[in-house]
Amino acid sequence: MSPGPRQIPGMLDDPLIIQIPPGVPPLAAVQARLAVAGACGGRGRCGTCAVTLVGERLPPPLPADRRWIDTAGLARGQRLACTLHPGEYLVSGARTPATVTGHAWDRIISRDFVPGPAGPGIAIDIGTTTVMATAFDKGGMPGRVWSAPNLQRRYGADVMSRVSASAEPEGVCDLRRAVLEPMAAVVRAAAVSIERPAWIVAVGNTVMQHLVAGIDATSLGISPFAPREQGLGWHSVCVPVDTDGTGWQVSLVPPLGGLVGSDVVASIALIRKRAVEDPWLLVDMGTNCEMALWAHDRLLFTSVPAGPAFEGGGLSCGCVAGDGAVEHVEAKGDALGLTVIGGGAPVGLCGSAAIDLCAVLGSSGRMEQSGRLVEDPCVQLALPGLSFTQRDVREMQKAKAAVEIGVRALLTHASLPLKDLRSLVLCGAFARGLQLDNAQAIGLIPRMDRGRIMVAGNGALLGAGLCQDPGMVANLQRRGQRVILQTEGFAARFAEAVRLRPWE
Ligand code: FES
Repeated sequence: MSPGPRQIPGMLDDPLIIQIPPGVPPLAAVQARLAVAGACGGRGRCGTCAVTLVGERLPPPLPADRRWIDTAGLARGQRLACTLHPGEYLVSGARTPATVTGHAWDRIISRDFVPGPAGPGIAIDIGTTTVMATAFDKGGMPGRVWSAPNLQRRYGADVMSRVSASAEPEGVCDLRRAVLEPMAAVVRAAAVSIERPAWIVAVGNTVMQHLVAGIDATSLGISPFAPREQGLGWHSVCVPVDTDGTGWQVSLVPPLGGLVGSDVVASIALIRKRAVEDPWLLVDMGTNCEMALWAHDRLLFTSVPAGPAFEGGGLSCGCVAGDGAVEHVEAKGDALGLTVIGGGAPVGLCGSAAIDLCAVLGSSGRMEQSGRLVEDPCVQLALPGLSFTQRDVREMQKAKAAVEIGVRALLTHASLPLKDLRSLVLCGAFARGLQLDNAQAIGLIPRMDRGRIMVAGNGALLGAGLCQDPGMVANLQRRGQRVILQTEGFAARFAEAVRLRPWE
């Protein structure tokens, strides 16, 4: 049983001043300071962004507030964060980094996992959206996974907006502070189950690694997206874990190269420990998709920008994968059956459901392989006012095409026919929710024997502890060959990859 959100000692529960500047989405401004879920992405459809305002002059409740908050709550000052107008608000509640959530490893991972490095130690995965940590006991078994929002999100959802923000005066310092705080919170939570850790290791994408280390990240925002020289080395950072402000030293694992970070290094370490059959391909899908191909002692890697569609972003009906999100869609006769996370009323589709829907529409003949919706440019879902539009299909196609182009580039560079690929390992949170049949039907992943596909979930967190060996990391960096996607012929490759059909 998850203990749910909890307060970290030493954090304040005082009202907080939150400013919503004109032009900034109010949900984003509030989420930068407070842990509110905002499952529908700020469209007033889920009620998961409610906050309590303090003061005498409260904004009058809007229809969306009345829909989700009862009369007593409205009288207490509760309002939806996403409906607030620009201005300054006094908001009560725990500060964001104080709220961490814990959960057990999911079944797939625990079944496949082999014990990690001897503990006691703590591994951290610094994600663009979420920071996670787990403690390893003396026998190398991981405990609960603790997570907290990455407070950098006030600067934008994807890594490129963080890079842009870091170019501002004090940008690197601000972004560094914004990620150290949740790092401290999750380490503090993980450390409760063990004695003082003998080691703490952190992995993350290249941009996160630069910013945590306090390194100028602007080179990562322009072609050829190269890390700084000092960014390719190890760093030890002081994370303010103790409530008296004392820091704990965290070893920051260097990236593989380009925008392929140490989270991939950690996943590779885990895959190799499990002796996955060679040649294998690792794909971590997100706004920036990272991929690595291990083929007969050769390591090739690349990254492709896929946009936010896999995380529900940019879709008219999209939302993040949390309570209320439709996780899966299936055909039920002429109707669509929806599976909702948490079982309540649906608020939108997360990325895995959008994949399902594309597959269902394709197999029923309502959508062509080109992505054109045949009968109607708008598929009505069983949600009031919610539909999956032609534009949403196009967003999914772009994201899917990015993955296919990256995978094909790696296979081509390795002169490896797809039929000779023995294993496909899907990493990252998005992969955990994928219906593999549907992902294969639309060509998001290649068609291959299902027994050869592994879903490693957050392999980066499990593998992070294995990266304590600098020799192993240096060996991967030395051996790794970065594949830079050719611009030549890109239009033709994109036109083919954008098609929603199986590929093999
Ligand atoms: S984010 Fe405000 S109601 Fe969903």
